[in-house]
Amino acid sequence: MSNDSNFEVGIPVIDLSSLLDLNNHNDFMKTTKSIAEACRDYGFFYVKNHGVSENVQNNLFDTLKKFFALPSHVKEKIKSQGTPGMVGYFRFQSETTAFLVNDNADWREGLYAFGDELPYSHASKEKFPLVTQNNLLPEEPANFKDVLDAYHKELKVLGFKIMSALAQGMGLKKEFFAEKFVPYSSTTIGMYHYFPSTNQPNEICCGEHTDYGVLTILMQDDVGGLEIRGEDGKWIPAPPIPGTFVINLGDMLEVWTNGSYKATMHQVRKSKSGRDRFSVAYFFGPQLESVVSPLEIKNPLIPFKERELNSNIKLPVVFGEFLEQKYRGTFPEHDY
Ligand SMILES: [Fe+2]
Repeated sequence: MSNDSNFEVGIPVIDLSSLLDLNNHNDFMKTTKSIAEACRDYGFFYVKNHGVSENVQNNLFDTLKKFFALPSHVKEKIKSQGTPGMVGYFRFQSETTAFLVNDNADWREGLYAFGDELPYSHASKEKFPLVTQNNLLPEEPANFKDVLDAYHKELKVLGFKIMSALAQGMGLKKEFFAEKFVPYSSTTIGMYHYFPSTNQPNEICCGEHTDYGVLTILMQDDVGGLEIRGEDGKWIPAPPIPGTFVINLGDMLEVWTNGSYKATMHQVRKSKSGRDRFSVAYFFGPQLESVVSPLEIKNPLIPFKERELNSNIKLPVVFGEFLEQKYRGTFPEHDY
């Protein structure tokens, strides 16, 4: 691993300053290389000096806490269950993220929203109804939409920067991924409220899974519990580090790189601190019509590793179909 990463927690922490300063080509390439190594060796890394304002992050956490503190009947005004889509509020223990591995429901409630909403006439609406419904956002707190929009705007900038570095690390043109995100990406924002442990036998509050899209940018509070599966099968904690986001790769990057970059399994362990945990996962997904299969990669910045592709993924992937199949699995009670 290059000197540009540090490992204070056993997972690389990468400083993105040089991606924001385009005048410094040498440092830019050093960072790009560190990202490529982290993608190949971990499928996970932290980023610091990422350019996202602290205010925008705190505002979203504060607003979410107020929403989740409302009585159930108020939150359920925007519930996804009973609608044709997966956006909106889902109640405690109604999602089973680990559905491919076990049927333990997640120890959390949450809210899903899309970053880019499709216009009513868009052809994908009929083709992929589950992942194209219009957002169901809370009426209270009253500024919810503005706060979420501000977050989306900044995270999109960060995501595009990381994807541009990723593409260059793979020896592709820097717009390779970005072009798959216009005019409408399928980027989804997952906002979660985890409940603390009650000493029940299952100590996991979000079951093991890989993410579905291209990359995920996670904002976690200071409670902790995220764990990633190392190559030896052991769980490695990914504790909160102030001022950072956690980045992980989704299944589509694993497919594009034919298994060399990893969509790494991860889970969240219940907190024994007695405190509730809040997190926001920004799932960067390409256009729903994107057809994804392994690329012929000739000149990666660092050599690829030969690895088997996840056998649960049938090729080629039509991203909209793949995403719908995943949400049908994670929401067993919903009538999709
Ligand atoms: Fe995840």
